[in-house]
Amino acid sequence: MPEARKQTSTIKDVARRANVSVATVSAVINHNRFVSNELVERVIKAIQELGYRPNRIAQGLKKRKSFSLVYIIPDITNPIFAGVTRGIQDVMERLCYNVSIYNTDFSDKKLFHHLTTTLENRPDGIVLSAWHSSEIKRAVSLIQELGIPLVIVHAPRNIEAVDAVLVDEEKGGFEAASYLLELGHRNIVSLGVMNSTTSFLREQGYRRALKQANIPISEEFIIKSASFSSRDGCDSIYQAVNSGIKFAAIFAHSDSIAVGAIEALNRMGLRVPEVVSVVGFDGTYAFSTFPKLTTMLIPNREMGKRAAEILSKRMAVVSEKGGNVVEMMKPQLLVQDSTQRLINESL
Ligand code: HPA
Repeated sequence: MPEARKQTSTIKDVARRANVSVATVSAVINHNRFVSNELVERVIKAIQELGYRPNRIAQGLKKRKSFSLVYIIPDITNPIFAGVTRGIQDVMERLCYNVSIYNTDFSDKKLFHHLTTTLENRPDGIVLSAWHSSEIKRAVSLIQELGIPLVIVHAPRNIEAVDAVLVDEEKGGFEAASYLLELGHRNIVSLGVMNSTTSFLREQGYRRALKQANIPISEEFIIKSASFSSRDGCDSIYQAVNSGIKFAAIFAHSDSIAVGAIEALNRMGLRVPEVVSVVGFDGTYAFSTFPKLTTMLIPNREMGKRAAEILSKRMAVVSEKGGNVVEMMKPQLLVQDSTQRLINESL
């Protein structure tokens, strides 16, 4: 005799436990009608307590949905995308959606390979952390032509007519440089990245801050590494010191670059912050360096959440139409131990 199948909970059990109607449970799961936060919480608690899993295959066939979302990223080793992923999961897991991640290693070829297989499986939505490439627009058009809702996060700005969650990079660069200026620094290196719109905007902010303080900008202080990696940050600072330029502060365009810069300075016996102050950007290594890094925090998890919320409204059975949503998040200065007031120009 085959063993009896394990009894699973039904939508009715969830409704009974949460003391709401079946229609309300369905609205929470399918996100197709407004439900107050209090009821959403009650339903989610009941779902979790009962271990209820909606039958997505049957529902999918009926509603022509796959209950899956794809997040496409350029670099799986970059922790900013881990933060965004957590935010996406915070929202989508509650809605019982599957989230898959596709890593492209900045390769257009991999992007189109992933897109072809992804699009065959018809995800209900795509989140894209785009990078600086002429092919991104073509990828976006392909997704849009198929009518799959798309939100971009952390992207170059030249992609129009798309929902987006971005960071005010220019303002962040301005605030990071302004903070170093307030500490009395004048010889500030901007340590950015080639071919990155993000880094370009952060540099624009740096330039505006120096201009506003009437400090002439020396182009030799504007250094561009090959990538956002610590290795490249480290190499760039070795080269800068060896080239003989005199600086007492660094505005690194990411925390990983700052980590590399601090390593190079330490190896050359240049103490942080006594000899050189270092500010990072993004907050991914805010608590992992010694001395603890002063940095511009980016709300990566919150950005992922917002992207998923925007997407879930577009994906709903009664979907939200209307103009594009572009949300601009503000980076926030976190002052820690890698910066200090300028005592003397020691380098
Ligand atoms: N940090 C690291 N990598 C990045 C960032 C950032 O803030 N923006 C785009 N790539």
